[in-house]
Amino acid sequence: MWPKNAVEAISNAKQLLVVTGAGISAASGIPTFRGEGGLWRNYRFDELATPSAFERDPGLVWTWYQMRRKVCLNATPNPAHHALATLEQRCERFLLATQNVDGLHRRAGSLKRICLHGDILDARCTRCQNIWTLTDEECIADENDPQTLPHCARCGALARPHILWFGETYWPGTIETAFQFASGCDVGLVIGTSGAVGPPAALIEHAARRGAMTVEINPNPSSLSSVVEHLIQTGAVEAMRALISALDT
Ligand code: OAD
Repeated sequence: MWPKNAVEAISNAKQLLVVTGAGISAASGIPTFRGEGGLWRNYRFDELATPSAFERDPGLVWTWYQMRRKVCLNATPNPAHHALATLEQRCERFLLATQNVDGLHRRAGSLKRICLHGDILDARCTRCQNIWTLTDEECIADENDPQTLPHCARCGALARPHILWFGETYWPGTIETAFQFASGCDVGLVIGTSGAVGPPAALIEHAARRGAMTVEINPNPSSLSSVVEHLIQTGAVEAMRALISALDT
């Protein structure tokens, strides 16, 4: 499944960038966005994941995110998440730039990570920008009563999910740090993303242009499949298991 030169490049990498998307968490039971059963096939992003949607109906938005938060809390990291935590320990310089908000990379032990799109377990104050991890109590809300929605303990203002919504720009220091890292990496590995969101996909294109060897893991072709040097066309769990065992032999 893994070409010998790709395994060697990963084994010898001094600086390894990994970009992940929803596909890596599919085996943990978390729906992707655009594939079969994907969230954006069943829900309208403009009603749930934009600043104006929140302004219009914060209760509806919170209810949707709390439903997703529960799914994430009930899920557990799968062997692909764990394999990335192992890879991090083997490589001198490592960065995981994830688009996922499910917290599974953190729970699998990945430390050197940037959560480009936020974290579904976190809330952010709409006034003072205070960020905190929601408790279960905060999440039991009556969507029709704004007073029961999460509020900031510091300033009392309404809180919102700490998620990067459509139409918003990346938080300072997130995507720039990832691009800086991509400039100097010798291997770029992308797992389980359609590439539909421009900047994270551009990280791999950037790494490839700068001479990094690039590998994609995805059972389906994505917008990055024509950019990468190697396409491992299978699920993340199977591919990462095979990679770790190839690195061990
Ligand atoms: P998508 O739903 O767009 O793409 C998921 C990708 O995972 C597809 O290319 C699938 O082929 C692939 N896939 C499915 N099962 C897989 C498996 N078992 N192993 C590996 N890959 C698999 O999700 P993203 O690319 O992550 O933004 O979407 C990017 C962003 O769009 C998300 O972060 C989200 C969304 O709007 C925010 O919420 C801010």
